[in-house]
Amino acid sequence: MKHKKKIDEIIRVDLAGEKGAIGIYKGQLAVIKDKSFSEEISKMLKKEEEHFKKFSELLIKYRVRPTVLDPLWDKGAFGLGLLSAALGKKTTMACTEAVEEVIIEHYQNQAKYLKGKDNSLAKVTRQFADDEKDHMHQAKNYDTGNDFFHKAFKIGVKSLSRLAIKLSEKI
Ligand SMILES: [Fe+2]
Ligand SMILES: [Fe+2]
Repeated sequence: MKHKKKIDEIIRVDLAGEKGAIGIYKGQLAVIKDKSFSEEISKMLKKEEEHFKKFSELLIKYRVRPTVLDPLWDKGAFGLGLLSAALGKKTTMACTEAVEEVIIEHYQNQAKYLKGKDNSLAKVTRQFADDEKDHMHQAKNYDTGNDFFHKAFKIGVKSLSRLAIKLSEKI
């Protein structure tokens, strides 16, 4: 099939991304003491675990090799979660806002590409883009900071996310 390589990349990178999302939230939960705040994050974590499960199944179904960078994303994401939460509520949600902005665009581009080529996978990416939109809005309900530090933090997290995506697609 003509599009097999690109579709393999989509599944590989999305599985890695969802694993990263789980890592971030777990890292944050390891630090956060506020009960209602950690409950909110746990709910987002649950969604990411559903997303991860779906792409794990697809990985087997489509016979895709996972990214070799898997353990790196795992630890890196957990570390980012720890760091963002250790810096406070603003950075915790700034991290989610930044990551989700990148992921939403990423899923939407995939959905566009997949339309007419693999409609069931297109539907998954569309639905997950909507779930991530919910997370982004949830984060934006908080003050994620407009000062230099928080702006720079969000730009940094977005760049890291984009780099992780580029690498996970290919290797
Ligand atoms: Fe997700
Ligand atoms: Fe999410």
